Amino acid sequence: MNPKWWKESVVYQIYPISFMDSNGDGIGDLRGIISKLDYLKDLGVDVIWVCPIYKSPNHDNGYDISDYCDIMKEFGTMEDFDLMLKEIHLRGMKLMMDLVLNHTSHEHPWFQESRKSKDNPKRDFYIWRKGKNGGPPNNWESYFSGSVWEYDEATDEYYLHLYSKYQPDLNWEHPEVVAKLHDMVEWWLKKGVDGFRFDAIAHIVKQQGLPDADNPHQTTTVRAYEMFSNLDDVHTLLQNLYDKVLYFYDIMTVGETSGLGPEQALDYVGDGRRELNMTFQFEHMFLDAASAGSGKWDTVPWNLIELKKVMSNWQTVLHNRGWNANYLCNHDQPRSVSRFGDDVTCRVPSAKMLATFIHTLEGTPYIYQGEEIGMTNVAFDSIDEYRDVETLNYYEEKRTSGVPEAEIMRAIHKKSRDNARTPMQWDATEHAGFTEGTPWIKVNSNYMEINVVQAMKDPDSIYHYYKRLIQLRKKFKVIVYGEYRLLLPLHEEIYAYTRTLDNEVLLVILNFFGKEPIFEMPEGLDLQGMELLISNYEPRKGEDLARLKLRPFEARVYLKKL
Ligand code: GLC
Ligand code: CA
Repeated sequence: MNPKWWKESVVYQIYPISFMDSNGDGIGDLRGIISKLDYLKDLGVDVIWVCPIYKSPNHDNGYDISDYCDIMKEFGTMEDFDLMLKEIHLRGMKLMMDLVLNHTSHEHPWFQESRKSKDNPKRDFYIWRKGKNGGPPNNWESYFSGSVWEYDEATDEYYLHLYSKYQPDLNWEHPEVVAKLHDMVEWWLKKGVDGFRFDAIAHIVKQQGLPDADNPHQTTTVRAYEMFSNLDDVHTLLQNLYDKVLYFYDIMTVGETSGLGPEQALDYVGDGRRELNMTFQFEHMFLDAASAGSGKWDTVPWNLIELKKVMSNWQTVLHNRGWNANYLCNHDQPRSVSRFGDDVTCRVPSAKMLATFIHTLEGTPYIYQGEEIGMTNVAFDSIDEYRDVETLNYYEEKRTSGVPEAEIMRAIHKKSRDNARTPMQWDATEHAGFTEGTPWIKVNSNYMEINVVQAMKDPDSIYHYYKRLIQLRKKFKVIVYGEYRLLLPLHEEIYAYTRTLDNEVLLVILNFFGKEPIFEMPEGLDLQGMELLISNYEPRKGEDLARLKLRPFEARVYLKKL
């Protein structure tokens, strides 16, 4: 089973701008994080992943870095960082940095040089091309709407940006770029950080020649992910990074890799590949997308059988060959309880059920800030309350093409990244105790009811349930390493599976909806002699153990020793 500390860990993701403000400017910061480390330790967290905290003009909340070796001034100083790292280590936890290697900010000195002239020594640090037929060099569409190309008057050429125009893509074909990035990664490792989440790492290589993508509907721009996702040379570059730098440190790495299935993921995380420990897969995040080509904004209801198919495939293919990173929410996604649970009538039981799911799959569980208290999506009335560049660009694009306001706002309420970016709800005081000033984005109005103080007081809270799940994982190896087997693949409401390791069997039963289906014990399984490890409901007295009537969003985890 090849034990590793990062397989046995629970990761907690912090979105620093919204976590805790220490000085009343309305912006979360490093001192704020430090003030909450005891809270995280108490929850049982092993690894803290902090989204980017580097110097940045903040067009994409730090994912646009203007100096890799400095701290964003709104977040604090390098001294604050060193103190944070020390305090994390003092509590026996680890720190995973979020590193953006695909692009920099347009304010990065490399780009400032690069755009000056065609013969500037840094010109080829980025991807510059001449226009074609009076327009951009090709038809690729940016993740954040519009073309991936931005025209720059100074040299009459275009530069490529897969994300916003403030995030020019680095040219990984340039050996000097690669060398500088390696040095920088090493610089952080020498400081003592314990790992990296590599942002957008699947995209660092683009199709040779940057050809137009197929464009059946002849639109101005077209989604062209196959032109810049998971291409072969990404692996060469990652192996190089591993052999030259990462190999020499006992760290944990996870890559953000959209657009692949588990077989392809093995190219990144397969034992012996010398690349990454885990990747974030996106297949389950697209189950509510209307069609493969429609992107994230057009949604349909997701389907449990499809979810089982996707998750089971990842569980099975990676078993003994790689390792999963399990999540339902992050800073780019809607809140998990609003998307996969029921945040109206069954918020508490459904959030606990989803937590049970993520913590009993094979792989490392990731908790996104606020998920442990069941924070929900937000629905601001006006676009003026939104801050996310992706959301604002989407709004602009749809308005320009005449889509009615109400329709756009509906999509935004469902899918905007700001759903997950409202301030952490610490208590019931003004602004949820996040800041004494005015928060950079409005607090969700349900903070009086949903907040940390309330959750810690209530023994039945989602928070205490997470704590117990985390403790169970530390106690039972079968939860970490057990082999997964899906039960009842065709049941439309119940998701059930076993995990087996040596003489231990774990049985997980999850009712994913608000009805009361019957769980019939599959052949070969028998609840006699099984211990109920955790559930989000009180056990029923005198129930028929062969036919369990489940309550709305009920979750049960049993253990049997053979
Ligand atoms: C990743 C990040 C996202 C960011 C983008 C560009 O997808 O998770 O927040 O906007 O990369 O860096
Ligand atoms: Ca602050």
